Amino acid sequence: DWNMENYLDSEIARLKERIGGKKVLLALSGGVDSSVCAALLSRAIGKQLTCIFVDHGLMRYKEGDAIEETFGKMDVNFKRVNAQARFFGKLAGVTEPEAKRKAIGEEFIRVFEEEAKAIGKVDFLAQGTIYPDVVESGLGGESAVIKSHHNVGGLPEHVDFEDIVEPLNMLFKDEVRRLGILLGLPKEMVWRQPFPGPGLGIRVMGEVTPEKVDLLQKADFIFREELDKAGESGSLSQCFAVLTEQRTVGVVGDFRTYGYTLALRAVTTDDFMTADFARIPYDVLEKISTRIIGELPGIGRIVYDVTTKPPATIEWE
Ligand code: XMP
Repeated sequence: DWNMENYLDSEIARLKERIGGKKVLLALSGGVDSSVCAALLSRAIGKQLTCIFVDHGLMRYKEGDAIEETFGKMDVNFKRVNAQARFFGKLAGVTEPEAKRKAIGEEFIRVFEEEAKAIGKVDFLAQGTIYPDVVESGLGGESAVIKSHHNVGGLPEHVDFEDIVEPLNMLFKDEVRRLGILLGLPKEMVWRQPFPGPGLGIRVMGEVTPEKVDLLQKADFIFREELDKAGESGSLSQCFAVLTEQRTVGVVGDFRTYGYTLALRAVTTDDFMTADFARIPYDVLEKISTRIIGELPGIGRIVYDVTTKPPATIEWE
């Protein structure tokens, strides 16, 4: 009789048997799949696992710290690589979306490879591949979409390993989430919405600077916090803010302002191939708008995206 507890026990036994006393390396992104993969391997082999979290500085508000908090106290070797300055360096002057994706993807691989080299030879490279990734073509779901995006930067070629271990490759997304809960991962991590590999790099329109990312992180946090408070979050597939390049005129007291336009995007979808914009009540939008404008002087205007996919994509870039 199949249940998640039994599956977990037998999977841990299987991993112990296969890995023995050998060393495993995992690139931890903080996404659902790599997080559950790390937690599972931690149960099975503890400190024989090394997790490298490359912090590109393009995560959501305080998300890098949350990842460090969760995995820093887990029974694994965890390393957060603070590579923010390197990524911002590579992004200086880059404005075109695909060029940004490429720059971020390539730098990610480079940083990961450097860190892997410093560790020396490992026996296994672990990957959080899930079943829909394996049958990519057939299902065309969220994971497949994301996978194709991810491969923009390529897979690590210069990491010295013998074999690959993919402990989630028989599981669907909802099973991976249930396993994550069983392994004691925080709810917010297990129910995390899809988040693009290039992160906020493609949610800051045009050139990505630390100042713009900081502004977007704070605005995006307020948006999501107010949606939570209003009880709207549960019905949304994805919600986020986008910092546009458009500045607009405003007046605050006796002063003229010229702040950025922030776009809010919230969608419902089953498969991320098509999506509808969420019907967020006007009074909730009003509260969000008032708070963001009041708390973030760099932002002068808020718009809500009422475009379906198709024709628009979910992301703005
Ligand atoms: P679009 O914008 O194509 O997004 O409607 C569909 C889903 O894919 C995510 N997405 C990405 N994920 N790297 C990723 O890992 C990317 O470059 C990327 N672009 C879009 C998007 O958030 C949505 O869930």
